Amino acid sequence: MAAVSQSAMTAEPSVASPKMTARDLNLFYSDNQALFDVNLDIVERQVTALIGPSGCGKSTFLRCLNRMNDTIDGVTINGKVTLDNRDIYDKHIDVVQLRARIGMVFQKPNPFPKSIYDNVAYGPRIHGLVNSRDELDEIVMTSLERAGLLKEVKDRLQSPATGLSGGQQQRLCIARAVAVSPEVILMDEPCSALDPIATAKVEELIDELRSNYTIVIVTHSMQQAARVSQRTAFFHLGKLVEVGETDQIFTNPKDERTKGYITGRFG
Ligand SMILES: Nc1ncnc2c1ncn2[C@@H]1O[C@H](COP(=O)(O)OP(=O)(O)OP(=O)(O)O)[C@@H](O)[C@H]1O
Ligand SMILES: [Mg+2]
Repeated sequence: MAAVSQSAMTAEPSVASPKMTARDLNLFYSDNQALFDVNLDIVERQVTALIGPSGCGKSTFLRCLNRMNDTIDGVTINGKVTLDNRDIYDKHIDVVQLRARIGMVFQKPNPFPKSIYDNVAYGPRIHGLVNSRDELDEIVMTSLERAGLLKEVKDRLQSPATGLSGGQQQRLCIARAVAVSPEVILMDEPCSALDPIATAKVEELIDELRSNYTIVIVTHSMQQAARVSQRTAFFHLGKLVEVGETDQIFTNPKDERTKGYITGRFG
């Protein structure tokens, strides 16, 4: 596992053998620049939290990590993003395969209008990951178990996913992401639609998942960032202002803007 280097601060966001990197990343929505020269390393099997005021570019940056911005008209991206040292914007990259390696969980739980079983089976089916119904059953069960949902749904796998509670739906979406065995999971405010109990469950789950996956989570809750992440990156006006170990960012931020944000002076 990669260790965070001593210099992983404002000026030098690098770590030894990162899972993913962004280098001099700029993004424009037509003429409006939303990201400015972002340099960030994502450490393998850790949770990296992205924090910062509304509109600072957190979701935009997160979407760059699995090329979700490709689907938005008028977007121009320059700079480099790598996964295991390979440029994910290289023209030879298969974006469908890439998104299987880098899964995503959205703010609002978005189960498909299908059964619980079929939601989780969806990815393995379209990616041709299984040869038999038994194998598929196995993946569905393991994924639901990993997402901490199996106990609650095992007797109603054929029921519509939309009949689950919000917190259960979000864990189902996590199970769906996990089912294709991704290496990285991106989460954009995954708890913002959940009550405190469901939030606590999802946070627990994130903590467990990090033994197998590399996780990047956008959150507006500094408590949540402090609870679930090992590294925190603070964005402001499209720039990555500061990144470091979560404890350091919250107890001893180097930049005045970070200090201002975490003490609630703006944002
Ligand atoms: N599809 C889009 N088209 C044009 N501009 C966009 C688009 N998405 C985001 N932007 C702009 O890019 C900037 C960054 O937006 P982004 O959604 O990344 O911020 P954020 O940090 O995730 O904010 P929030 O905390 O409110 O979710 C904002 O100025 C926003 O208006
Ligand atoms: Mg956002």
